[in-house]
Amino acid sequence: GMNMKGRDFLNLQDYTPGEIGALLELAEELKEKQKSNVPHPYLQGKTLGMIFQKSSTRTRVSFEVAMYQLGGRPLFLNAGDLQLNRGESIADTARTLSRYLDGIMIRTYSHADVEELAKYAAIPVINGLTDLNHPCQIMADLMTVKEHKGQLAGLKLAYVGDGNNICHSLLFGCAKVGMSISVASPKDYWPQEQIVNQARQDALSAGAAVRITTDPVEAVSGADVVVTDVWASMGQEVEKAERVAVFAPYQVNRKLVAHAKPDYIFLHCLPAHRGEEVVEEVIDGSHSVVWDEAENRLHVQKAVLAALL
Ligand code: CP
Ligand code: NVA
Repeated sequence: GMNMKGRDFLNLQDYTPGEIGALLELAEELKEKQKSNVPHPYLQGKTLGMIFQKSSTRTRVSFEVAMYQLGGRPLFLNAGDLQLNRGESIADTARTLSRYLDGIMIRTYSHADVEELAKYAAIPVINGLTDLNHPCQIMADLMTVKEHKGQLAGLKLAYVGDGNNICHSLLFGCAKVGMSISVASPKDYWPQEQIVNQARQDALSAGAAVRITTDPVEAVSGADVVVTDVWASMGQEVEKAERVAVFAPYQVNRKLVAHAKPDYIFLHCLPAHRGEEVVEEVIDGSHSVVWDEAENRLHVQKAVLAALL
């Protein structure tokens, strides 16, 4: 396969379509092995440090289990317990951790902090979510779409809601694999222009389209995949009331999904707020593949870990 040893995984934009395809294939192979109890201890003796500055259920558990299944060990590091919390620099933290660990996964607020960590670390750094993006999640999303639709290129994905980290990584991910993406958000909550423009370049060479609109019906019309995410992300709790009001017309409900293809699938990175961004009827309905999506976090992250560490 392709050699990705030693690389960081901060952003899907840093990976070629071929590399993303290879990681998805490795994830499928590892899923198959795990399901049929074939051992795959590719990371024997290796340790992954996992720094968390925000809450997590899926990311923490799937990365920990990923390391166990690969024959290595995870080390959970609450950011609040590190000297980082008392003013030790990111650079010195990176230099120190590089002497003990084989890789670092980090979930935090500022994407620039993760880039700083990667700059001074001698080992691969994996982004487990920042305010800017969430590449591991979108690898799982792509794997899930491929499993259910048998293809990626040529499909249409609709993202309805906040132009947040999930939206940014979807823009990059879809463009890389040749899926068209339509984003519907209130104007003040559109994804960052620079990210949209970068995704457009990739989409163009893959023959796919990137469309940003304020109209959820337009975005969902003819979609193979419908995606949403919370209206207030971690760190935005104080804006919650304001956001619930602004985003109300963007709820993914029966009326909206009626515009999608009859065999559309529904994705949500979770955690979900039923009755806000999505109604129970959709997320718990027959088109929803959110539990496969959550499971696939494990398999894609094993592929990323095996390839980079
Ligand atoms: N989707 C996701 O990253 O979930 P957690 O916040 O539970 O890790
Ligand atoms: N946009 C959400 C995703 C959680 C996995 C957040 O950042 O809180």
